[in-house]
Amino acid sequence: MKGVINKGIKEMIEAQHGIDKWEEVRKNAGCEDIFFSVTEDYPDDLTIRLFQSAGEALSMSVEDLMMEFGKFWINETGRKTYPQIFQIAGKDARNFLRNMNRIHLQATQSIPDAAPPRFEYDDLPDGRLAMHYFGRKETISMLKGLILGVGIYFNQDMEIEEKHGMRDGASCTIMVRFK
Ligand code: HEM
Repeated sequence: MKGVINKGIKEMIEAQHGIDKWEEVRKNAGCEDIFFSVTEDYPDDLTIRLFQSAGEALSMSVEDLMMEFGKFWINETGRKTYPQIFQIAGKDARNFLRNMNRIHLQATQSIPDAAPPRFEYDDLPDGRLAMHYFGRKETISMLKGLILGVGIYFNQDMEIEEKHGMRDGASCTIMVRFK
């Protein structure tokens, strides 16, 4: 997983709970890296261990923590790391979410071993957007937080629902209702 995810976990814990808490999380996860390069690849299991360790340190479920992380990442780490991409990625939440294949290819094109997520979309007659997610199952809660984070970024209320079995090969489908 790219370092920009691990960097986000560090930034969120430090900003919300202080540097000492981050040190506790880092050590309990067996993580020897003191900082993370945003262009470097790190083992997937390190990211998962960081999420688990943070959940334990903050007495939160890993799912809740990943959701919080997704919201934080969009509005803090992602926004600061990729300002140009945020400028061109879309004029509202639906547009932005619909651009995610292009954005992920652009953000990872010069990085060997990148494994960006892929999405297929359906615009439903009732206005909802179905996002069929092709990526790691372990990060579905993070995916939901990232989607909600886009709503916060555009100041747009939205509701999401996780569904399964809607598209062959997809890890899940997130139904997004814009309000
Ligand atoms: C401009 C905004 C964004 C940028 C620059 C960006 C960039 C990235 C990068 C660099 C990775 C790591 C890829 C890898 O490890 O090879 C990643 C992972 C991921 N991103 Fe984004 N991202 C953005 C917004 C979003 C949004 C809005 C969503 C949700 C719809 C999303 C969903 C994900 C997921 C689920 C993963 C993990 C994939 C997996 O575990 O298989 N990203 N993103």
